[in-house]
Amino acid sequence: MLLIEVNIGLLSAALRLVTRCLPWLPVKTSLNRSHTRRFSDVCRRSSDEIKCWTFCSDQRWHSRILLPVKLNDIASQDAVTSRIASDIVECEGEGPFRGVIDMFGGVGGLVEFRSSLLASRGFACLALAYFAYDDLPSLPIKMDLKYFEEAAQFLCDHPKVSGDGVGVVAICKGAEMALAMASYLPQVTATVCINGPNALNGNSLVYGDVLVNGIPYKMEKIQSTDFWSLSLTNAMGDPRKPENQDSIIPLEKARGPILFLVGNKDQHYDSLFFAREAKSRAEKYGKKDVYVQCYPGAGHLLEPPGSPFCPASKSPHFSLPLTWGGDLLPHCRAQETSWKALQEYFHRNISCSRQNKL
Ligand SMILES: *[C@@H]1O[C@H](CO)[C@@H](O)[C@H](O)[C@H]1NC(C)=O
Ligand SMILES: *[C@@H]1O[C@H](CO)[C@@H](O)[C@H](O)[C@H]1NC(C)=O
Repeated sequence: MLLIEVNIGLLSAALRLVTRCLPWLPVKTSLNRSHTRRFSDVCRRSSDEIKCWTFCSDQRWHSRILLPVKLNDIASQDAVTSRIASDIVECEGEGPFRGVIDMFGGVGGLVEFRSSLLASRGFACLALAYFAYDDLPSLPIKMDLKYFEEAAQFLCDHPKVSGDGVGVVAICKGAEMALAMASYLPQVTATVCINGPNALNGNSLVYGDVLVNGIPYKMEKIQSTDFWSLSLTNAMGDPRKPENQDSIIPLEKARGPILFLVGNKDQHYDSLFFAREAKSRAEKYGKKDVYVQCYPGAGHLLEPPGSPFCPASKSPHFSLPLTWGGDLLPHCRAQETSWKALQEYFHRNISCSRQNKL
């Protein structure tokens, strides 16, 4: 087993203990008690998680596609590390696989830890960066849905990806984009929004003739929850107000089902409220396949099981850390159950034909 020693004492407080990009390895942590105030628990990944993935680089959409690979295809751990280190591109496994696009939020850049785990669970997963990466804009100011459509089409057309549509999973700001993708793009057949809003916020969105302006953030309403971290909950505009109606994402147009996974202790967004708003709008328009799964006690950063619980952490955009919320035990339990729910949902709602396109 590969072990990396991370001495938390070397990290300043409020850093998240997750790897952004591959490899996702078991990490041995050593705690310096004088620095553990904010880390009430550090979960260690089980060795089972290192099932493995291999990936094909694709420069066009600032993404890498991760395909499942059988463990015994890997000759030795050294082969794994050298493959990663040298970025050798190789697709293995039989396929076809269900295709899923995976996106993250305000942190920006390319984040691959969830896609590598989904790939190790049998999905062909495309981790998609949409800002703050390479030559992409440093902030999501005007998002062109065409970019997301090309990525979805690329995944649909991939010879190892089955069916005529792909799934999308995303959190926070990414969930906002996922909801827009579901609403406008025919390639999207199943969507999972983790703690996201029901309207566009801050940035605008274009897609051909369509222009949606975001609800402006109320920066003056950003609150300091405990003098060392900030909550954005009150800085988000109320999507019920008449002046914000045009910013609501028309999810009733979505081709496929939408699942909202929400923590009711989310202190970043009022996610449960947003999800309920989305569901009631869908019902009003006769769309029946919008589901809200609420996890009591869970916070904003609802990640795969074993991800360290992180109630607050630094953000590239603010001087103080952001509050994510959640209580340790229910949050960790929610990470276990929501991970299973997510996979089951994709299995049931993304069609998988046996035919390989090759
Ligand atoms: C733990 O942190 C304290 C305070 O920063 C430092 O003095 C000490 O050397 C650290 N201990 C270890 C084992 O790193
Ligand atoms: C989609 O997934 C949800 C949740 O797993 C399930 O309740 C629903 O029946 C699925 N839809 C279809 C068409 O199977």
